[in-house]
Amino acid sequence: MKVIRTSNYGEMSRTAGELIIEKIRSNQQLTLGLATGSTPKGVYEYLISDHWQNGTSYKNITTINLDEYIGLRNDHPNSYHIFMRKNLFDLLDIPLAETFIPDGTADDLETECLRYENLIKEKGGIDLQLLGIGQNGHIGFNEPGTPFKSRTHIVTLAESTRQANSRFFPSFREVPAQAITMGISTIFESREILLLASGAAKAEAVARLINGDSDENFPASALKLHRNVTIIADEAALKLV
Ligand code: F6R
Repeated sequence: MKVIRTSNYGEMSRTAGELIIEKIRSNQQLTLGLATGSTPKGVYEYLISDHWQNGTSYKNITTINLDEYIGLRNDHPNSYHIFMRKNLFDLLDIPLAETFIPDGTADDLETECLRYENLIKEKGGIDLQLLGIGQNGHIGFNEPGTPFKSRTHIVTLAESTRQANSRFFPSFREVPAQAITMGISTIFESREILLLASGAAKAEAVARLINGDSDENFPASALKLHRNVTIIADEAALKLV
């Protein structure tokens, strides 16, 4: 794993944004795996301002998101569908039909997981997957203990993950208890992975990722076995390394 140290959140976002733009410029049909949450917001802002200023086009790009809550309609303000539209898709020239997010309202959620796996295959796999990291080491919504061989599946969210995400909801009670997430193996098959981390709250997780062993109790550590992973993190997130 390559580690790029940046001074703060802004520099982390810019560094990641530039890397993504370079990939898009060299492959205009890139399949980009995307994440939600606070961490990638600055990267998305950077991509949007570059699109408007420099004309980088997303007309032929495909995006595939990591996860979605179960039980929130796709137009629910806290759904990841709306998060992605508000923070990225509606501000680029990307056709919405080429943006994919698991459907957490599907009647048959197991079939939805299979459909998502097949979709990723049909699109030729993910060229570049963007990831955040949970304080407990989760990637996507793969909580500690998830087998490294897991594929897209239904998860029950850890209490700590629901607590952390309750900042986006009116109350903790309204944070869904379950989600659909790409599995660790699904993520691992991406040709390249870019993991971002910012802030002191992520310092322990980042230190364990960089210095610890590969262990299913710490999902992000699967990435230690991957050939093409870059961590871009700021000083605060790297303070224990
Ligand atoms: C989001 C996701 C999660 C987040 C992680 C960090 O799609 O899959 O793994 O990346 O929970 O969240 P933030 O960035 O809000 O700290």
